[in-house]
Amino acid sequence: MSKRSLLLLPGDGIGPEVMRQVRRVIDWYTRKRGIEFAIEEGLVGGCSYDAHGTPLTDETMARALAVDAVLLAAVGGPKWDNLGFDKRPEAGLLRLRKEMELFANLRPAKVFDALVDASTLKPDVVRGLDIMIVRELTGGVYFGTPRGITDLPNGERRGVNTQVYDTHEIHRVARVAFELARKRGNKVCSSEKGNVMESGLLWRQEVIALHKAEYQDVELSHMLADAAAMQLVRNPKQFDVIVTDNLFGDILSDEASMLTGSIGMLPSASLGATDANGKRKALYEPVHGSAPDIAGRDLANPIAMFLSFAMALRWSFDLQAEADILENAVENVLNTGLRTGDIMQPGMAKVSTSVMADSILREMDKVAAA
Ligand code: IPM
Ligand code: MG
Repeated sequence: MSKRSLLLLPGDGIGPEVMRQVRRVIDWYTRKRGIEFAIEEGLVGGCSYDAHGTPLTDETMARALAVDAVLLAAVGGPKWDNLGFDKRPEAGLLRLRKEMELFANLRPAKVFDALVDASTLKPDVVRGLDIMIVRELTGGVYFGTPRGITDLPNGERRGVNTQVYDTHEIHRVARVAFELARKRGNKVCSSEKGNVMESGLLWRQEVIALHKAEYQDVELSHMLADAAAMQLVRNPKQFDVIVTDNLFGDILSDEASMLTGSIGMLPSASLGATDANGKRKALYEPVHGSAPDIAGRDLANPIAMFLSFAMALRWSFDLQAEADILENAVENVLNTGLRTGDIMQPGMAKVSTSVMADSILREMDKVAAA
C-alpha cells in the first residue's frame, strides 16, 4: 500500500500546540495500526508572513495541491491585524480554499452526552443533537467582485463587496448536502435571504430545481438565514443537514458550535470535487481560531483538531473503523471527566492540552484492543 500523503499546516496561536498533539495521534496509527503517512509541514498565516512576507507561499500552495489531504490548525492574531487583506493570515487560508476548489465545507455539530451541561443552552434542547452544516466555501461575498475600499469625490470612502452565485456553484454544494442527508436523517434545510437578495432567491430556486431533478427522496425545506439563526438556539434538533452560502455558513456554524459546549470541540472538512480516480482535494481544520490569548500555555482543547483528523481518515482515506477508534476514545475520555478549560464544569478534572492528548492516546490503545 502506498503511503498516504499529508501536509500539516500548524499556523498561528494555539495552532502549533494542537498540531503537535495530533501528530502523536497520526504516529499512533503508524505504530499501532501499520498505517503509514508521508508527512510534510509548512507555514500558513502570520508565521508565513513573518518568514516570507506572504501568508502562503507558492511552494506551499503547490504542496497543498499535490498531497492527499491538508491538515490545518489555525491562523491569525493581533500581531497581523493591521496588514492589508492580501497579506493578512486569513488570506492564506482563503487562497488554499480557492485554489484547491474546496467548495463544500462540512461542519458537524454533535453533542457528546458528557458535555450536555457544558452548553449554555438547556440540556433538553441539546441532548443527542447531531446536525451537519454544509457551508459553500469558494464563492459568495468572500470572493465576489467588485470589492474594495475607494475614495469618493465628496471626501467620503466607500466599501464594496459582492455576493454572487452561479447555478453550478449552488448545485455542487447542494448535491453534497443531499448525498450526506441520504446517509443521515434524510432531511436538508437550505438557508438564504431570498426575501431581500437576488443571489438568495436564485439559491433557493436552484436548490429546488436540483431537488426535483435528482433528490426527491430527500425531505427539503427552506429557511431564511435570520430565522435559521433563531431556530438553531430555539430547537436545533429539528435540523439534520443545513446547506447555506459562505457568509451565512460562517455565522451559523459558529452559532452551532456553541450548542456543543465549546467551539474547541468542532472539526471541519473542506472538500473539492471528486476526480476521475475517485479522489478529491481536501483540507481538514478545527472550526476554532488561533486563540492568541491562551497560545503557548498548553491550555487549548486539542479535540477539534483530533476530530478533524478523524474526518480525514473518513473522507480522504476511507478508514472508517480507524476513525471510529479516535472518536470513541475522545468520547470515553470525556466520560471519565477530564476537561480542558473551555469545557470545564464543576466536579470535573481540569487538564492541559498535553494531558488531554495523553489520555486520548491511552484510550485509543484500549479501544483498539477491545
Ligand atoms: C472560518 C473562519 C474563516 C472564515 C476566517 C479565519 C477567514 O472564521 O473558517 O469560519 O471566515 O471563513
Ligand atoms: Mg468562522
